[in-house]
Amino acid sequence: MMALLKMSCIFVLILLNCLAWIVHGSHFLGGTITWRLLNQSATGTPVAVVITQTYSWSYSLITCTNAMISSNQLIPTSSYPLLLTATLNCIANCTSGAIGYVAPNIRPRCTNISPSLGITVGQRSDTVSIEAGSDFSVAYQDTAWRPLASSASAAWSVSSRIQLTIRPDNSLYNNAPTASLMSPINIPYNQSTAIYIPVADADGDITRCRWSTSLNGVNECGGVCPPGSLPANTMIYPNCTIIIIDQTIGDWFAITLMVEDFINSSSIDPLSSVPVQFLVQVVSPPGCTIAPEIIGIPLEQACIPLSVGQTFNSELMAVNNCGLSVTIVDIATLSFSGMIQGNIAQLNTTIYYKTLSWIPTTAQIGFQVMCAMALDSQNAQSAQYCFKFYVSETSACACPGETCITTTTT
Ligand SMILES: *[C@@H]1O[C@H](CO)[C@@H](O)[C@H](O)[C@H]1NC(C)=O
Ligand SMILES: *[C@@H]1O[C@H](CO)[C@@H](O)[C@H](O)[C@H]1NC(C)=O
Ligand SMILES: *[C@@H]1O[C@H](CO)[C@@H](O)[C@H](O)[C@H]1NC(C)=O
Ligand SMILES: *[C@@H]1O[C@H](CO)[C@@H](O)[C@H](O)[C@H]1NC(C)=O
Ligand SMILES: *[C@@H]1O[C@H](CO)[C@@H](O)[C@H](O)[C@H]1NC(C)=O
Ligand SMILES: *[C@@H]1O[C@H](CO)[C@@H](O)[C@H](O)[C@H]1NC(C)=O
Repeated sequence: MMALLKMSCIFVLILLNCLAWIVHGSHFLGGTITWRLLNQSATGTPVAVVITQTYSWSYSLITCTNAMISSNQLIPTSSYPLLLTATLNCIANCTSGAIGYVAPNIRPRCTNISPSLGITVGQRSDTVSIEAGSDFSVAYQDTAWRPLASSASAAWSVSSRIQLTIRPDNSLYNNAPTASLMSPINIPYNQSTAIYIPVADADGDITRCRWSTSLNGVNECGGVCPPGSLPANTMIYPNCTIIIIDQTIGDWFAITLMVEDFINSSSIDPLSSVPVQFLVQVVSPPGCTIAPEIIGIPLEQACIPLSVGQTFNSELMAVNNCGLSVTIVDIATLSFSGMIQGNIAQLNTTIYYKTLSWIPTTAQIGFQVMCAMALDSQNAQSAQYCFKFYVSETSACACPGETCITTTTT
């Protein structure tokens, strides 16, 4: 289908077809796919697995509203009708390793918008019933990313490996890690920039990051496989930090990485693999080079334990350090359904804020990662500010892997 459109662009030059192709190519901004057990103590077969897909889209082409977010509506598809039928297909070990898997749809529900940053975020969760012992990979694949420095119309492949074998350490099934990042993010040209990917794991496992590959029979990166798709010397560390530097203002890169969890620190056999894909745009440094900053509660990288039905209320704040001529135009977020946000408001000349309110549901048990980024009137972005929640059926005093601070009275 897309190849046909592309051919008409090249050979027939029917303007409308070309436009359709160009517009189509700038819809997608990246995403992530994770999964967890519906019932943490499940032991039999088949196993109910909740797959959560989170994608970012161009706001101008896929426009959600605050009302659509509050009422949990599916993202509009008028500019991208392929989304009506797109599914998260099995791409590896499908005949013997994915018994019971029925591919859920891709089309997500509206969860976040930032008109000023040009982002709509959508998320969906589906429960699928899979035979014990399964080991397969699923992916959302289509063409094409917007024109990138490495390719004018590269295909994308966002893939996740689902492995349902009993863990030797606790005799239970595994849960995949959860990670996320906003997209697109700006990096100043000719400056080494570190990007840190927030990761959480419900089992408290060791996690590591690596570049996506299309080796080993699984296409994890489509037409944008590192290192060829990235500037020379771009690094990824197992602790999920990326170091990138590029010399050309206006370059776009799609960054494709996998987060994996391991049974212990000496293991090199992942229990699962979760993709994180996002866009980076190389920009000239803004006039005032002190970037805006996000502060507030939750603290950056913090984890807040919540129980189902418990209300969470807070404020995210953005600080403008550039004086009266610069204002904060948005605090953009990437979250999940039910996280209701107020409009951006001004506290005083330096501080702006947005209220947050959420009541977790049973469907949201496990880790939920949220990120925020401030944008000022000179188009400067803050660093990503990410934090996470751990939702459980009954109240927990700490997130997995953290110790409770309890006080006892005698
Ligand atoms: C979860 O699985 C366990 C073990 O199979 C079972 O005893 C329990 O009833 C299940 N819980 C729910 C809510 O289905
Ligand atoms: C397919 O399953 C085998 C074991 O059954 C496993 O070694 C292999 O990594 C799996 N491949 C994928 C792509 O999931
Ligand atoms: C790029 O950065 C290097 C080292 O910081 C500096 O020497 C060089 O002048 C910069 N180039 C441009 C075009 O700004
Ligand atoms: C990640 O690892 C790199 C290389 O070991 C190190 O330089 C960096 O400080 C680490 N980052 C964090 C956030 O721990
Ligand atoms: C790590 O896990 C593997 C597989 O269960 C086991 O064989 C190995 O002994 C473990 N290593 C350590 C250091 O616990
Ligand atoms: C803005 O409000 C914050 C928090 O109350 C305060 O710390 C800061 O000094 C205020 N700044 C100005 C310029 O009034």
